[in-house]
Amino acid sequence: MSISVIILAAGKGTRMKSSLPKVLHKISGFEMLYYSIKESQEISDDIIVVVAHQSEAVKEAMGSYFKDIKFVEQDLENYPGTGGAVRGIECKNEKILILNGDMPLVESEELLKFANFQSDIVMSVIELENPQGYGRVVIEDGEVQRIVEQKDATEIEQKIKTVNAGVYLFNKNVLDKFLPQIQNNNASSEYYLTDIISLAKNDGLSIEPLIVSEQNFKGVNSKLDLANSQTIMQRKIRERFMLSGVEMRLPETIYIESNVEIDGTSIIENGVSLVRGAKIINSLIKTNSIVDDSVIKNSQIGPMARIRPKSNIINTHIGNFVEVKKSTLNGVKAGHLSYLGDSIIDEGTNIGAGVITCNYDGKNKYQTIIGKNVFVGSDVQLIAPVTIEDDVIIGAGTTLSKDVKKGSLAISRVALRSVKGFYYKFFS
Ligand code: UD1
Ligand code: MG
Repeated sequence: MSISVIILAAGKGTRMKSSLPKVLHKISGFEMLYYSIKESQEISDDIIVVVAHQSEAVKEAMGSYFKDIKFVEQDLENYPGTGGAVRGIECKNEKILILNGDMPLVESEELLKFANFQSDIVMSVIELENPQGYGRVVIEDGEVQRIVEQKDATEIEQKIKTVNAGVYLFNKNVLDKFLPQIQNNNASSEYYLTDIISLAKNDGLSIEPLIVSEQNFKGVNSKLDLANSQTIMQRKIRERFMLSGVEMRLPETIYIESNVEIDGTSIIENGVSLVRGAKIINSLIKTNSIVDDSVIKNSQIGPMARIRPKSNIINTHIGNFVEVKKSTLNGVKAGHLSYLGDSIIDEGTNIGAGVITCNYDGKNKYQTIIGKNVFVGSDVQLIAPVTIEDDVIIGAGTTLSKDVKKGSLAISRVALRSVKGFYYKFFS
């Protein structure tokens, strides 16, 4: 069956108390709206995103991920509210799934379940211990009667723990008929999409509740909801990896963004952050290390190492307090306290403690290229651009500002002076 999807992303998101539009707040590395669109694309070829508040920013952000999404502007001035958002939208298909854009935990398999019903309306329902903030679903004689928003609910209705999760499947004719009938005589003076339920019910239409879970349908209205959704999403991400064979030490302390890949026999220790599409293959990432937009293969990283974007680390050991940026290291050991930026370092090379690539002269960035089997002593400064050929020894403390030929020793050191008895003279 073909389904059209309308995603509501036009609201102000007042409760976020933020200058950023609500749907652009990120969770696990991506904007909330990104997840709604991505999951919808799995089930539909006709997706319409309703925008209004800061619509240019929303369109631009989503345009960077998706091509060919249809955006429709809501007339927020005259028709505010989720009912106003859906007014006058043309869809390709007879079945229309409407979902709020503030549900980042949504998954396509869950959305597909709506299509299994034959009723005029299928609506998502969650049973919650704390229904705070959600619209309450009034059920009488086993049938859904209406949805009452928290602000409009009586004290008794507020106690209802069955709430509207914010996803609905409608037949096109149902929307055509009832959308124009929605009024705004409520506490918010908004056109509530949820009022369609009672209108349809009174007209004898069939309404089917689909019980869903907070795990997949939690709505985000505040920064607190954002953090709680993040916790749920992180748990899902970690569980997926652990079930696929990734070992994690104290998993609750590990942060993994949603486009990260971990393969092979990898171990991730506590406090590690894997962000922006980091790829970990057959590697051990030790305590409190960060891997950002880089590939780590057959390597050991950390503890407390920082691998910054565009690094490629293969068959390498990176130890504590080492920062690597935009560098390719293949078969290298850099055990302690180094900054390796804009560098290419080859097999068998050892980087001593405190080695720094001086890659920036205040205006531009330059490259450091180090060949095979090079021994770079402790506390060496490599003034880029500089190339060190294979089989070279760089003496500890050297400031290297010239290229070094294969097989050489390079050393720059002030001759040691030792003045006998100086200490006693100085301190009398
Ligand atoms: C809505 C539902 C509520 C449900 C909850 C589930 C209504 C009236 N209420 O409440 O029953 O329990 O979601 O999370 O629908 N939006 C627009 N245009 C607008 C207003 C909102 O596009 O004029 C968008 C928002 O950007 C948001 C979504 O619609 O993505 C939901 O709006 P929100 O204000 O968060 O509604 P809730 O109060 O959460
Ligand atoms: Mg909401």
